Amino acid sequence: MPDTLLLDNSHAGICLVTLHRPEVLNALNTRLLGELAAELERLERDDSCRAVVLTGSRKAFAAGADINEMAERDAVGILNDPRVACWQQISRFSKPLVAAVNGFALGGGCELAMHADIIVAGVDARFGQPEINLGIMPGAGGTQRLLRAVGKSMAMQMVLTGEPIDARTAQQVGLVSEITQPEFTVERAVQIAQAIARKAPLAVRLAKESLLKAMDTDLASGLRFERHAFTVLAATDDRREGISAFREKRAPVFTGR
Ligand code: HXC
Repeated sequence: MPDTLLLDNSHAGICLVTLHRPEVLNALNTRLLGELAAELERLERDDSCRAVVLTGSRKAFAAGADINEMAERDAVGILNDPRVACWQQISRFSKPLVAAVNGFALGGGCELAMHADIIVAGVDARFGQPEINLGIMPGAGGTQRLLRAVGKSMAMQMVLTGEPIDARTAQQVGLVSEITQPEFTVERAVQIAQAIARKAPLAVRLAKESLLKAMDTDLASGLRFERHAFTVLAATDDRREGISAFREKRAPVFTGR
């Protein structure tokens, strides 16, 4: 059992993963990142899990990389850092991932939230990349994913000043899809994950992959990928079932084939 994560499988089709280092606002140390990467790898192979919700506490989703641990590492240590492999593992997760963010999502915490496909935020959430205050810069997507999510001017402002933005601003610039009262953030993220979990798994998987392609490819290549994925889905049982169910005015029963 991981000791920096809480796992809740009580929602059908969903695994709720809660970051749990409350004494340091869920600062991301090697242990937590390793446990999270391992858990996502396990959920990747678990057919009963259709989507994952990732959350932290009411005060902090995560306040960034563990600064005390960072202080112990020299430059050589950073180059061989096991955390790099963890981040890569987390970024390969192919099932839908919804982040429920309350409180601080700073530095690596903001970067971790941006690994999610959808971010739901409590009204008191704060997103920021304060690494510049430590004499460093973001290193897990805080320049690349952030710029793609919020555009150049806001990304520059956040990274170069280190000042966080509030949930409303995050929603206005497209980082966050919905804002809730903090006590309902997780509930709303679970609802969204469950709505996705009811859809045809292959369609969900390829749609996610196709949308992510749009972040790192030119339009012509992205459209080619989309057309290919669309064609693959045309041969699935779930496509036949979805169309039949519509015409027969009943709910579809998807099998993932
Ligand atoms: C280690 C941390 C921490 C962190 C908070 N704590 N953030 N410990 N690493 N990132 C600890 C504090 O030291 C304190 O421990 C306890 O958590 C509570 O925090 P406070 O500061 O007392 O709370 P508060 O006054 O409410 O301030 C909250 C805060 C502040 C604004 C979030 O803690 C803060 O600025 N934290 C650092 C944020 C940051 O710079 N993140 C980026 C890290 S660099 P004690 O023992 O004193 O009670 C990064 C690089 C990523 O993320 C690279 C990826 C490859």
